[in-house]
Amino acid sequence: MNPAIFIDALQSELQSIQYGQQPPELYDPIRYIMRMGGKRMRPLMTLMATYLFTDDWQKAVRPALAIEVFHNFTLMHDDIMDQAPLRRGQPTVHEKWTENIAILSGDVMMVNAYQLLLNVETDKLRPALERFSRTAAEVCEGQQMDMNFEARWDVTETEYIDMIRLKTSVLLGYALELGGLIAGADNETTRHLYEAGMNIGVGFQLKDDLLDVYGDPAKFGKQVGGDIIANKKTFLLIEALQQATGACKDELIDWLNRKDFDKAEKVQAVTSIYNQLGIRELTESRISEYFARGFANFDDVKADSERKKLLIHFARQLVERES
Ligand code: IPE
Ligand code: IPE
Ligand code: MG
Ligand code: MG
Ligand code: MG
Repeated sequence: MNPAIFIDALQSELQSIQYGQQPPELYDPIRYIMRMGGKRMRPLMTLMATYLFTDDWQKAVRPALAIEVFHNFTLMHDDIMDQAPLRRGQPTVHEKWTENIAILSGDVMMVNAYQLLLNVETDKLRPALERFSRTAAEVCEGQQMDMNFEARWDVTETEYIDMIRLKTSVLLGYALELGGLIAGADNETTRHLYEAGMNIGVGFQLKDDLLDVYGDPAKFGKQVGGDIIANKKTFLLIEALQQATGACKDELIDWLNRKDFDKAEKVQAVTSIYNQLGIRELTESRISEYFARGFANFDDVKADSERKKLLIHFARQLVERES
């Protein structure tokens, strides 16, 4: 099986989704964000998880796209909250249109996501919806914690991991779980899949934090340094605050306290503190740890080993990703 077949199936089904027509200010931004690309990793993970247990993975395509539409809705609102100018190399929806438009278009996308999820077979629909609703609420909980942390200095690594498990990991967990559920896998199996997604999700968000500082602007597609500008309590900043001493710590705190600053200058100064402290290497080793935990969860999933390799190979690429 070539994973390109999954990607093609998702792409062609994406083209057929009808989000709505009037007024165009409501629906054009949805088409805009859905067409600007993205890795499509969540729906791909759903299809690969379904394929672990059945050849009939096509029945998971529309439910998988529910997760992708939901994900893009969270990005649209996240970009307002993070005041992000760029997404996938293009202007964010609130920059191209307005914040109000991005709020309302995002709301409709949440509805679109539920409509797509209704394509799960009737006997599995209720658990699919219940787990999706719980997951969606958890993403909001994580996003609120992320915002609360911006104004705090004492966020611990444990609090940070709890926050990213909610804002990011639960959706990757659900993507794998849903794939198993649709294929008729038992509860124990879907739990292992969920755990795999949770651990990979933590590694994935750590990598996102790392790329936000060290990514190549030409490949990353988002504003490099955005987290530093906003004093986001990323893994990198939390570790730097813990490890810095003396003049280095004073300089870091000074940058975090400044109200008026040149953005590029702040990004450069904080990055250079990270460099001095070896934060990049520390983050990379933590990323590997969490991915390894995810791969161990796959070991517990009873399925064809060749089919599992597809998933593991795909997840490995996420460790090395540049966008
Ligand atoms: C970005 O997700 C938001 C995070 C959870 C870090 P992706 O990195 O999957 O974004 P796209 O969909 O590929 O653009
Ligand atoms: C957001 O995390 C995760 C979501 C639930 C959208 P980030 O704020 O780090 O995501 P990016 O970097 O903007 O994609
Ligand atoms: Mg955010
Ligand atoms: Mg963001
Ligand atoms: Mg980020």
